[in-house]
Amino acid sequence: MRFCQHFSICGGCQYQDIPYFEQLKMKESQIKDMIDFFELSVELKPINSYREWFYRNKMEFTFGKEDSNLICGLHRKKEKRELFNLRECLIFSPCAEPILNKVREVLKNRYLPYEKFSHRGFLRHLVIRETKFTDEIMIALVTTTQDKLDQEAFVKELVALKLEKKISSLFWILNDRVSDAVIFEEKRLLWGQPFITEKIANLNFRIFVDSFFQTNSYGITHLYKKIEEYAQLTGEERVLDLYCGVGSIGLFLARRAKFVWGVEIKKEIVENAIVNAQLNGIENISFICSDVKRFLAQKDISNIDIVVINPPRCGLSKKIKKYLLKMPSPRIFYSSCNPYTLFTDLKDFSSLYRIVFIEPFDFFPHTPHLECLAFLERKN
Ligand SMILES: C[S@@+](CC[C@H](N)C(=O)[O-])C[C@H]1O[C@@H](n2cnc3c(N)ncnc32)[C@H](O)[C@@H]1O
Repeated sequence: MRFCQHFSICGGCQYQDIPYFEQLKMKESQIKDMIDFFELSVELKPINSYREWFYRNKMEFTFGKEDSNLICGLHRKKEKRELFNLRECLIFSPCAEPILNKVREVLKNRYLPYEKFSHRGFLRHLVIRETKFTDEIMIALVTTTQDKLDQEAFVKELVALKLEKKISSLFWILNDRVSDAVIFEEKRLLWGQPFITEKIANLNFRIFVDSFFQTNSYGITHLYKKIEEYAQLTGEERVLDLYCGVGSIGLFLARRAKFVWGVEIKKEIVENAIVNAQLNGIENISFICSDVKRFLAQKDISNIDIVVINPPRCGLSKKIKKYLLKMPSPRIFYSSCNPYTLFTDLKDFSSLYRIVFIEPFDFFPHTPHLECLAFLERKN
C-alpha cells in the first residue's frame, strides 16, 4: 500500500490508510444504505473505478510562512487554518513537486505571503492544472496587487523546468479580495497559450484558467461513454443538458442525437462550451446562458426526449423539480457528486419516474467523495 508522506497531517485524503478495494466496498455499501433509507426500489450497478493515484487534473496550493520561510502547500487536517509545505501529492501529479520547489525557490526572500487577518502580503495561491491525455500543464500564480512580480525571472525559471509534461500556459492572476477562494479578478497571460486542451475519448476540450472542468479526466471519460451507451441514441432524440458547464456531456451525446440544448448560468463557461463545439466540428448543439430555474419557467420542454442533469452539490430546488415534473420527459440521466442531494431528488422524482438504476463512479479515491449516475424512465 502506498502512503503519501503528508498523510498524517494533510486535510486532503482521509482514506489513504484503508486498502483501495475496501474503500470501494465502503462506498458501495454507503449507496446501498441510502437506497434503503430513502426506500427506493432500484438496481444498484457495481461501482466503477479507474486510477487510484495521480487522478486529479487540478490543484490549488496556498502560500504561507513557517519559521519565517516561504511555504506553499495545503491546509492541515486538524488546525485547518494552518498550512504545511507540500512535497508530493499522490492524487494529483508527479509534476507537483518539481513545480512547487521551483516556484518557492524563485519567489522566496523576494515576496511576502498574503496574510488574511492583516490583509497584507503578496503571494496567495498557485493553481496547477494538467491534462491527463495530452500531457499539458497550466500554472497560475495568484497574488494581490501589493507588490510587483518580476515576470521575466518567473517565466524564465519555470519554462526551463524539465518535467514529464509540457508547460503550455503560464498565468499571473491578481486578486485583492479578502476571501480565501481563488478569484480570477484580473488575468494576465505571461507565457504560452491561454488554454490547455484535454482529450476525452475522441473529443477535445479547451480548459481556460478559470474554466470549470471535472477534476478526474479518467473518470469522466468512462462516465460520458456510459451515458452515451445507455442513451441508445438513434439520431432522432432531442436532448436537454441542464447545468452543462463547458458542454462535455452534451457534446458527447450530440454526435448521435438530433439536437442538444445546453443550459449554463455563467457567461464565460457558455463561451467555453461554444469554443468546444466548434473545436470538435459539432453543429447540432446550442448553448443557452441562463439560470436553469428561469429557463424551465419560460420554456416548454415537453418535446424533449432525454434530460441530462448534472447540478452543483446542492442538487435541485423544489421549484426546479416542480417544473421538470410538470413537463416530464421520457428519460432522465442525473449525475451528481453528492449522493445525499441526489437521493433526495430521486425520491421526489419517483412519483412520476421509475428509477431504473444507480451506478457509482469513484472519481475521488482516498476521499469520502463519490459520483453517482441515476437513470430514470417515465412511468406509463
Ligand atoms: C457540476 S458542474 C457540471 C458541469 C458539466 N455538466 C460537466 O460535466 O462538466 C455544474 C455546472 O452548473 C452551473 N450552474 C450552477 N448553478 C446553475 C444554475 N442555477 N443554472 C444554470 N447553471 C448553473 C455551474 O456554473 C457549473 O458549470
